[in-house]
Amino acid sequence: MPRTYSGEEEIVMKPVMSRLMKLALGAISVAALGTIALPPAHAAGVPPAHSLAQAALQGQHIFNHDKFGGVRTCSACHVNGGTTIGHLPNGTKIPSLMGVAAEFPRYNPAAHRVVTLGQQLDHCITGGLQGKPPAANSAQMTDLVTYLTKLSKGSIMGKQFK
Ligand code: HEC
Repeated sequence: MPRTYSGEEEIVMKPVMSRLMKLALGAISVAALGTIALPPAHAAGVPPAHSLAQAALQGQHIFNHDKFGGVRTCSACHVNGGTTIGHLPNGTKIPSLMGVAAEFPRYNPAAHRVVTLGQQLDHCITGGLQGKPPAANSAQMTDLVTYLTKLSKGSIMGKQFK
């Protein structure tokens, strides 16, 4: 029995599915689609989301609960789901993540290279969480990027270009 989202994170799949999706999901029991399966504690096997909204929700859940095998979650530093100013374990303040997806890719002078949002997440998972980043093309990475992009709705793209 897969765990399911609870409280504000609980969503129920829309009853209306496209024909294509029905075909694609033909083998999966309809009952299993009633609620969204939770990513396991360390995230190895999050199934791909069936909608953008679901990917954002799964990403929010991963952000708040997943340690990727490390010692803390994203929300330990980026508090309130990243929507407000956060803090490091020693109390140092860090910026909120509102609008952040529109600011990548960008040049990181310390690393001497252009960094994508996914590479920034790798960095935070390795350094901040002390965990193991999932593969770039994994469902977890897709969900995290989708969640951060939702936090960036309406932000202006490309401001990093002079
Ligand atoms: C130990 C604390 C810590 C944890 C845990 C952590 N981060 Fe970060 N994160 C930081 C710091 C520090 C920065 C750099 C902030 C700055 O620009 O000075 C940062 C930067 C970022 C940025 C770029 C922000 C910007 O404005 O440039 C993103 C996106 C991000 N983190 C996402 C995540 C995600 C997703 C997770 C979980 C997988 C995570 N972080 C976990 C500390 C943390």
